[in-house]
Amino acid sequence: MRKLSPLLYVCISIVVALAQPKPIEQRIDSLLKLMTIEEKIGQMNQYNDDWTATGPATVDNDKANQIRNGQVGSLLNCIGTERTRSWQKIAMQSRLKIPLLFGQDVVHGYKTTFPIPLAEACSWDLDAMQNAARIAATEASAGGIHWTFAPMVDIARDPRWGRVMEGAGEDPYLGSRIAYARVKGFQGNGLGEVNSVMACVKHFAAYGAAVGGRDYNSVDMSDRQLFEVYLPPFKAALDAGAGTFMNSFNDLNGVPATGNSFLQRDILKGKWGFKGFVVSDWGSIGEMINHGNVKNGYEAALSAVTAGSDMDMESRCYKNNLVQLVKDKKVSTALIDDAVRRILQKKFEMGLFDDPFRFCNAEREQKELNDPDHAKSAREIAAKSIVLLKNENHLLPLSKETKTIAFIGPLVKAYKQNKGFWDIELPGGDSSFIVSQWNGLKNKVGKKTILLYAKGCDIEGTNKEGFAEAVRTAQQADVVILSIGERRDMSGEAKSRSDISIPGVQEELLKELLATGKPVVVLINAGRPLVFPYTADHAPAILYTWWLGSEAGNAIADVLFGDYNPSGKLAMTFPRSVGQIPIYYSHFNTGRPATDDANHNYNSSYTDLSIYPKYEFGYGLSYTTFSYSNLQLTKKQMTANEQITVSLTVANTGKYPGEEIIQLYLRDKVGSIVRPVKELKDFKKVALAVNESTIVQFTIDKEKLSFFNQQLQWGAEAGEFDVMVGASSRNIKLQDTFSLVP
Ligand code: BGC
Repeated sequence: MRKLSPLLYVCISIVVALAQPKPIEQRIDSLLKLMTIEEKIGQMNQYNDDWTATGPATVDNDKANQIRNGQVGSLLNCIGTERTRSWQKIAMQSRLKIPLLFGQDVVHGYKTTFPIPLAEACSWDLDAMQNAARIAATEASAGGIHWTFAPMVDIARDPRWGRVMEGAGEDPYLGSRIAYARVKGFQGNGLGEVNSVMACVKHFAAYGAAVGGRDYNSVDMSDRQLFEVYLPPFKAALDAGAGTFMNSFNDLNGVPATGNSFLQRDILKGKWGFKGFVVSDWGSIGEMINHGNVKNGYEAALSAVTAGSDMDMESRCYKNNLVQLVKDKKVSTALIDDAVRRILQKKFEMGLFDDPFRFCNAEREQKELNDPDHAKSAREIAAKSIVLLKNENHLLPLSKETKTIAFIGPLVKAYKQNKGFWDIELPGGDSSFIVSQWNGLKNKVGKKTILLYAKGCDIEGTNKEGFAEAVRTAQQADVVILSIGERRDMSGEAKSRSDISIPGVQEELLKELLATGKPVVVLINAGRPLVFPYTADHAPAILYTWWLGSEAGNAIADVLFGDYNPSGKLAMTFPRSVGQIPIYYSHFNTGRPATDDANHNYNSSYTDLSIYPKYEFGYGLSYTTFSYSNLQLTKKQMTANEQITVSLTVANTGKYPGEEIIQLYLRDKVGSIVRPVKELKDFKKVALAVNESTIVQFTIDKEKLSFFNQQLQWGAEAGEFDVMVGASSRNIKLQDTFSLVP
C-alpha cells in the first residue's frame, strides 16, 4: 500500500476531525492535537478592528494575514453582518478553519439604545432589565456579534468615577439581582441559540473602588470587603451562566487584577469553579509594565497567563511572547491547552464550528434592527428609570391642557446625547430614530398647546448670551421645562471628575428662569449622581432623567404628563457635596456614631456639613402616595433551618395609580465582626390603583442573615436582628426585631 504524504495525512485528519458530530470535549481534543503551538496561542489573541470606543489601539495592517495564519482568535469593534462576514471568510482560509469570535461592548443596547445601566438599575425592575438585555442581544447577534462585554457589575460608591454609569450602583444585593437578570437576558435560552450573545462579566475585580474615583487607579481593600461588597454581583452573574469574565485595569492590594492568581485562579476558577474563559481588559496585560510588577512584555505575558487570563485583548503580549515562554519552559503546554480549550469550548457551544456565518444574516439583521417592539420596550424601561426627586405643590404631572410650555436648555433638541456613553455607531451613522426631548414633547401635547423653545446656554462654558431670550420665552409660557446636565461623554470610561456639579452656567440659567415667577420643572440628564444644591433647594420639581437612550424624548414626555407615574428609586446615594464621598447607606455605626445635631463634638460627623446625603439610596417619589402598615412576622425566633415570613400592607393613598418599590433592610445587631447599620436583603415592586392595597411578603432565611466572618467563612450567627421595611434606605416605615437561635 502506498504511504500517504504527511501533508495529505494532516488534511484528511482535519477533515475527519471537523466533520465528526462528536461531543464537544472530544472535538476539542481532536482539534488540539492538530494545532501547532502558534495556532493555540492565536486563539488567545484578540485584536481590535478599525473602530475604537476606548483605546489606545494598535495600527496593524497585517491583521488579515495573521487571521489567515491562525494567529487571531477574536476581533472586537467589528460590527454588521457585512463586516463580520468578510473577516470570518478570511478565518475560513486558515489551515484549521477555526472561526473568529466577534466581541463588542453592547452595554445598553445595540441599535435600540436603552437607558444607561445605572439608570435602568433605578427601575429595580428585573424583568424589564432582562428584557432590555434580551433585545440588545437579539439585535447584536443579528448584526454579527457573538459576545458582549457586559454586564459591568462593579459596585461603585464614588460618583467622581465616570464609570458609575455602567453598573448597577452601590449595593451588592441589588447589584447581584441585576447582574443575574442581565446575564440571563444576554444569553437567552443558551449559547447555542442564534439570538443569544455570550455575556462577559466585568471588571474582575474591585475596579469600582479606585482610589479618589480616578479611573484605572489602585484599589486597596480588605478581603472581607472584597468578598462582602465587591464580589457578590460577579458570583451572581456566574450563577446565571455567564460564559466569560473580563479582568480589570486596577491593581488590587498591589497586584494588578490581570496578573492576579488570587482573583482568577483561586477564587474564580478555583473556589467558584468557573469553566468559561477570562479575557484581559484592553491592553491590561501590557499595562502591568507600567504598574511596575513586571519588567517587560515577556514577564507580563507570563504573569497574566499564569494567573488565569486566557485571552489577551489588544496588548499583543501573548502574541509576541507566549511561544518563547513555552520554549523556555516557563509556561507549560498544559497551561496553554487549558486556556485554548476554554475558548474553543465557547466557540463550539455557540455553533460556530458548525456554521461560522450563522450570525451573519443580512435579512435577519434588517428585520431585527427595525422591530418596532424594541422601541416600545425601550420607552417603557426609560420611563421606569426616571427618578422624581422633588415635586412641590404637585407641580407634576403637567396638564395636557397647558396652553403654552417653554422648553428650555442645551439638551432639549439633542439627539445623540440621549444615548449615553456606550452607544454603538452603526454603519451609516443614522441617528434619526432617536427621539429627542423636543420631539417627545411634540408627540405628546395636543394641537392646542403652544411649545416654545430657547437654548439658553451651552452645557459647558460661561457664555450667558442666550439667557435673555430664554427669559423672554419663559415669560410667555404657563410652565417652563428646563433640560440641563452633563454631556453624554462626561461620564463613562476615563471620565472621572473632581467637580461633579452641574457644569457651566446652567444653574445660573435656572436662577433667572425662577426669577420670572413661572413654575419650572428641571430635567437633569447625567451619567452619575451630580451635586446640585441650588437646583435641589430652589427648583419646585426635579426629574433625574440620566441618559435614557433612543426613546428618551417619549419616555420623558410620558412622565411629565403622567401617562407613566414615576417609580424609580436611586440605586446610588447622591451626596450633598463632593466632600462626603465615598458615601453609601450600608456603612458601619462606628464607636462614636454620627448625629446631625449641632452638638456633634467628638463623634463621627463633619463639623461643616450634614452627614446625610442629599438623596439617599432607595429614594424616589411618585405622583401618588403610599401607606405602609400592619407589619407582621410569622415568628420572633428562628433556627438556621427555619424561615420567617415578614408581611405588611401597602396601600395607594393618593390620586394616581402608581408603582412602589418596597425595600427590606436587615441589621445584625451584634456580630463577631461589625455589621452595617442596615443592608438591603429584598425588595418588591407593586402596582396599585387608587385606593387599592396589597399584602407584600418577604421571606427571611439563613442566607439573608449570613456574612463573611473574620476567617472569610460564610455563615449566620445567632443573635438579634432588626427588620426594617421602607420606601428608601432612610425612610423606614415599619420596624421590628427577631432572633436567630442556635
Ligand atoms: C474597557 C472595557 C471594554 C473594553 C473594550 C476597555 O477600555 O475597560 O470595559 O470592554 O475597553 O472596548
